Amino acid sequence: MLELTCSRAWPPLDEARIGDWRLRWSDGFTARANSALAIGEPGKPLPAALNGVCDFAHGRGIPAVVQVIQDTSTEDAIAAQGWVHHVEHRPDHEVRVLTGPLPHGTSAGAEILDEPTSGWWELTAGGPAPTEAQRYVLSTGKIGYGVVDLDGGTAGAVRGAIVGEWLHVARLAVRPEFRRRGLASGLMNAVGAWAAAQGATGMVLQVAMGNPGALALYEGMGCREHHRYRYWVPGPGACEDRLS
Ligand SMILES: CC(C)(COP(=O)(O)OP(=O)(O)OC[C@H]1O[C@@H](n2cnc3c(N)ncnc32)[C@H](O)[C@@H]1OP(=O)(O)O)[C@@H](O)C(=O)NCCC(=O)NCCS
Repeated sequence: MLELTCSRAWPPLDEARIGDWRLRWSDGFTARANSALAIGEPGKPLPAALNGVCDFAHGRGIPAVVQVIQDTSTEDAIAAQGWVHHVEHRPDHEVRVLTGPLPHGTSAGAEILDEPTSGWWELTAGGPAPTEAQRYVLSTGKIGYGVVDLDGGTAGAVRGAIVGEWLHVARLAVRPEFRRRGLASGLMNAVGAWAAAQGATGMVLQVAMGNPGALALYEGMGCREHHRYRYWVPGPGACEDRLS
């Protein structure tokens, strides 16, 4: 299942299992790394599994959130237990997962580094010194740190992770003053070439529904929708000690 590949590309600080479900905690850094991935069978009745999600989350000080593939019987079953769409998380609560060929072409000055720089952290984590959770999630695994420098600083960055034959692309960002100059395309091409050298044959990435610019960029590179997922949270009374 492709969603497991994406999960492996985004390792949480702490993970537990309920059957096939993966319960993830990363001190609040990203919904993906702080939610339960409801793929496969939980191995127990759904109400008990959802209570387990609540206990895991609340014991670690985060809200209970479940990541579910959109329009599946799991969504219906979770809704029937009183869970609701995680609207507070908009525009990121609905996500399109895209797959496509490895990008190739001009890198426009972008390069892939073996180690993250402070400029890379600034663009991918919001500051030059990442938290422990940010460092763990973003730099664990076979990672390529893509950067493009302009005017003496880092103008754009991207994270590429190799999982099996997949390149998982995330945290693509170009500083606002440098946008629409082909820098993101260059970063994608550079990380695509790097991934091909690592043995990858295809690319997967996750894009929020509310990000039409990024969707246009990726669709222009031949990416197409593979599936969608959404985040769900307990409705009133569904998880009695729910944190706000
Ligand atoms: C999305 C982002 C990385 C694009 O960076 P960029 O350097 O401006 O992209 P490029 O110049 O390489 O764009 C290549 C093509 O992608 C498409 N594109 C890029 N940004 C677009 C936008 N805002 N609206 C519509 N199409 C867009 C266009 O087809 C563009 O070609 P064109 O400029 O000739 O029309 C940048 O806007 C950004 O950092 N956004 C905030 C972070 C983010 O959303 N990252 C993606 C997370 S999945």
